[in-house]
Order: sequence, then structure tokens, then C-alpha cells
Amino acid sequence: MAIDTLKIPAVALGTWAWGDSGEIGDGYFGTHLTQAGLEEVVDKAQAAGFTLWDTALVYGMGRSETVLGEVLKRYARSDYQLSTKFTPQLASTSDNPVADMLEQSLANLGTDYIDLYWIHNPADVPRWTPHLIPLLKSGKVKHVGVSNHNLSEIKLADQILGEAGFRVEAIQNHYSLLYHSSEKAGILDYCRNQGIPFFAYMVLEQGALAGEYSPENPLPEGSNRAEHYNGILPRLKALTDKLASIGQSRAAAVPDVAAAWAIAKGATPIIGVTKPHYIEGLVRAAGITLTSDDIAELEVLADAANVNTRGWWEQEMLI
Ligand SMILES: NC(=O)c1ccc[n+]([C@@H]2O[C@H](COP(=O)([O-])OP(=O)(O)OC[C@H]3O[C@@H](n4cnc5c(N)ncnc54)[C@H](OP(=O)(O)O)[C@@H]3O)[C@@H](O)[C@H]2O)c1
Repeated sequence: MAIDTLKIPAVALGTWAWGDSGEIGDGYFGTHLTQAGLEEVVDKAQAAGFTLWDTALVYGMGRSETVLGEVLKRYARSDYQLSTKFTPQLASTSDNPVADMLEQSLANLGTDYIDLYWIHNPADVPRWTPHLIPLLKSGKVKHVGVSNHNLSEIKLADQILGEAGFRVEAIQNHYSLLYHSSEKAGILDYCRNQGIPFFAYMVLEQGALAGEYSPENPLPEGSNRAEHYNGILPRLKALTDKLASIGQSRAAAVPDVAAAWAIAKGATPIIGVTKPHYIEGLVRAAGITLTSDDIAELEVLADAANVNTRGWWEQEMLI
């Protein structure tokens, strides 16, 4: 029996990197992942109560979903929740491209329903949003959210769904110490006021804010993230040093404090997990209470870094 209530853990887990082929120099992340390693990630996460898994058909063109479905096989379907996305740019020319893409995701993930289905970006809100309604009615999709939408696009999607008795139940945007576009545009306030969960993606800026990478130890050569972030790593040192010093008194590491910052701001971080020990850090992150001074000092240093980490697929949220 499917769970109808969306359960929001303190941290959701992202699997974009799981879509990489693993070939050196190929892919977004340039990380080599093994099935055994990812099974360990899943076991630790499930045991810690981090049971909401985010993916998309477009991550490795089905590879992330397939790998995720495979490693979750050992768990009862009701023990975890799946979050995947319709990407308008991949839509087929059939009569029902959203339903078609959903069917591909269901097959890849080895399931007959998705807990949280997203419209990945606002390519054409009036065109794509209505396609979610029959999927909600059929039960193949339990809840829907919108990603990378600005406030007026969120409201429009909510109005379209509202006419059929449904609503936008979650928002997913880029939000990190270095990237505040959604906060400045009032999207976090909107979510708080409406009681809608705000999922923050790229809280660790694809590893650039995790404290492990530096000009001496850059992100993997040939990967897209290296191209995007290696040039700015020297400007992040003061911020990552501060994250480390705040973490020191709490036996926490840089990424734990960065994730704790997002939680303190009212977001549910979606953290891209690639190694089993990252889960222990997320357990610590969920238990850290940052003071308002900690938050203010981190934000001052983040602003002083003066970098723009907006992804190429993202629009400026400010209206
Ligand atoms: N809706 C959208 O348009 C959209 C866009 C982007 C992302 N997302 C979702 O959000 C998720 C998160 O974003 P992301 O994966 O791009 O970036 P992220 O969470 O900012 O960073 C993930 C990377 O940080 C490193 N990392 C994670 N935990 C760590 C730890 N405890 N200690 C040290 N390093 C750590 C890993 O790199 P190494 O493997 O090199 O250690 C990992 O690949 C994605 O997986 C995806 O599900 C959605």
C-alpha cells in the first residue's frame, strides 16, 4: 500500500552524480562510483532515516534512476520515497509526453508510483503543468512539485493545479551560502507562509563548499563541475575555514555545517551523496543548532567571496 503523506526528513539525498558513466573525464562529476559503494550509502542513509531519494530521468539519461532503483531493491517500497522529474526539453512529440516520461522513470526505478514528481524547469508552465493532473488522479504520482520556477511561475502552476483540487506541494531550487536568489526573490518566505517544503539543491556547490577541494586539490579534471568551480576555489577559502572552525566545537566537518546552515534557514537540503561516510556527516548536520552569530558570520564571508554560482540551466529568480 502506497504512503500518501509526503514524509520530509531533515535531509533529502541527491543522486545526480550516480548518472555519470564512471569514465575519467566524462560526465558532470567525474567521480567513480561502484554498486557496492552505493549500496553502503543506501544502507547507512536508510538506517539514519534519510529515506527521500531525488533523481531525474535526465541524470545520465536514465542511469541515475536505474542505479537508484537497483540499490533500493533490498528495501520494501514503503520504506523509502522517490523523487524524480519531468524535463520539458526531453519531451517527446507524442500526445502525452509527461505520462510517457513518467513511464520511463517508473521502469528505470522498478516501481509503479512516484512519491514526488517535479516539473524540472519552467520552460512553459501553462503547457506542462496540466499534464500532472491525470497522473495525480491515477495515483502513479502521489505529490507534485516545481523546480527552478520563480515566484510568479510557482503561483501560476499552483493556480492551474488548484483548479483541479491539487496544489504545488514542494519547491526545489538552488540555494546555498553562495547562492541566495530564491531567498531574495521571496520564495523561502512564500514556502514558509504556505506551509510548503523548500528543497535546497547544490548546498555544497557540487563539492566546492565541502572543504575537501582546494586549488592544490581541485575538482576532478575534465568534469563539468571542475570547469564551473575550480577557478573560484581560492575565493572560498575564508568561508570554508569559517565552516571548519564553527564545526570544530561540535565535532562536525565543513559540509556538515554548510548543510546545517540550510536547515537553519528553513530549507530541506538535498545533498548529493557519493560516499558512505557522508551519511554520518549528514546525521551530525541534522543535529547542529547554529547561532544567529554563526549564520551572520558565514553569510558575510559568503558575500565577500563575491562569486556567482548560478547553473547554466537556471534563471535569475529576482522578479
Ligand atoms: N532541480 C534541479 O535542477 C537540480 C539541479 C542540481 C541538483 N539537483 C539535485 O540536488 C542534488 C544535490 O546537488 P549536487 O549533487 O549537484 O551537489 P551538492 O549536493 O552541492 O554536492 C554534491 C557533491 O559534494 C561532495 N560531498 C557531498 N557530501 C559530502 C561530504 N559529507 N563531505 C565531502 N564532500 C561531500 C560530493 O563530491 P565527491 O563525490 O567529489 O566527494 C558530491 O558529489 C543532486 O544530486 C540532484 O538530486 C537538482
